[in-house]
Amino acid sequence: MRGILREARPRLGLPHLGLGVGLRPPHYAHILEHGPQVDWFEIISENFIDNHGYARHVLEQVAAQLPIVMHGVSLSIGSSAPLSLAYLRKLRQLAAEIRPAWISDHLCWTGTALLNSHDLLPLPLDEASLRHVGARVRQVQEFLGRPLILENPSTYVEFARSSMPEWEFLGRLAEDTGCGLLLDVNNVHVSAHNHGYDAAAYIRQLPHDHIVQLHVAGPTVSGDVLIDTHDAPVPAAVWRLYALAQRLTGGVSALLEWDADIPPYPQLLLELDKARAAERGEFADAQADAGTADLHPEAAHAP
Ligand SMILES: [Fe+2]
Repeated sequence: MRGILREARPRLGLPHLGLGVGLRPPHYAHILEHGPQVDWFEIISENFIDNHGYARHVLEQVAAQLPIVMHGVSLSIGSSAPLSLAYLRKLRQLAAEIRPAWISDHLCWTGTALLNSHDLLPLPLDEASLRHVGARVRQVQEFLGRPLILENPSTYVEFARSSMPEWEFLGRLAEDTGCGLLLDVNNVHVSAHNHGYDAAAYIRQLPHDHIVQLHVAGPTVSGDVLIDTHDAPVPAAVWRLYALAQRLTGGVSALLEWDADIPPYPQLLLELDKARAAERGEFADAQADAGTADLHPEAAHAP
């Protein structure tokens, strides 16, 4: 897949890496034997912190060939607990060793100083949160010496005290702090369905010059709710949002997430190929829209 990138349009000085997938243990042997066959990999940072075993060996092999992006789940940028300097030191150390193209995490909080929920929890979206998160983003960026890239979360509840839509919160945060955005179009699809708003309008309202990367994934239907499970093919509605985001940004790095019921690597690559089809408009005429009707049947189970 390498060698067919469109014209690079750097965002925040960051490169257009092309199409990538998450580096996951079930694929290590295939990748080492047959080569990556993608443009870049994203790793879950926490899986490689304090890990110097086989996984680190594989990472070093692929990092010698392809760009790597570090994607974290423990920063807890929205928490009222102080940022963990121990975690940030380890993140910075891993970055010094791996030399990632960028470091990302989520607009969320994961717990308190005494409790880790192991979940990516939503924030109240108001002026106080914006000031709080903005100060912490600046602190993280100063510590890491690079822009932080923040991903929009998938959410299932909202706070009554929220006073602005998520796209406005993210846009103002990016413009106030200079941070980048990782636009997960599946998360937009999931949250828009769960809360009853227009996913395409959300994407149109973001500051597109701050979008550094896209995520696509397949969610799960559970009754009236969509759940962000990353365990199924990407539905047509998400590919349409992907095509919209690529058009509005002018083209940015994109990554397919698949974290449960992970298929063999060749099947994963076939799913990634649909990104090009989506950009050619091949999902534009699909019947179902932002709802659940076009989800893959395999995804229609409760998690
Ligand atoms: Fe994501």
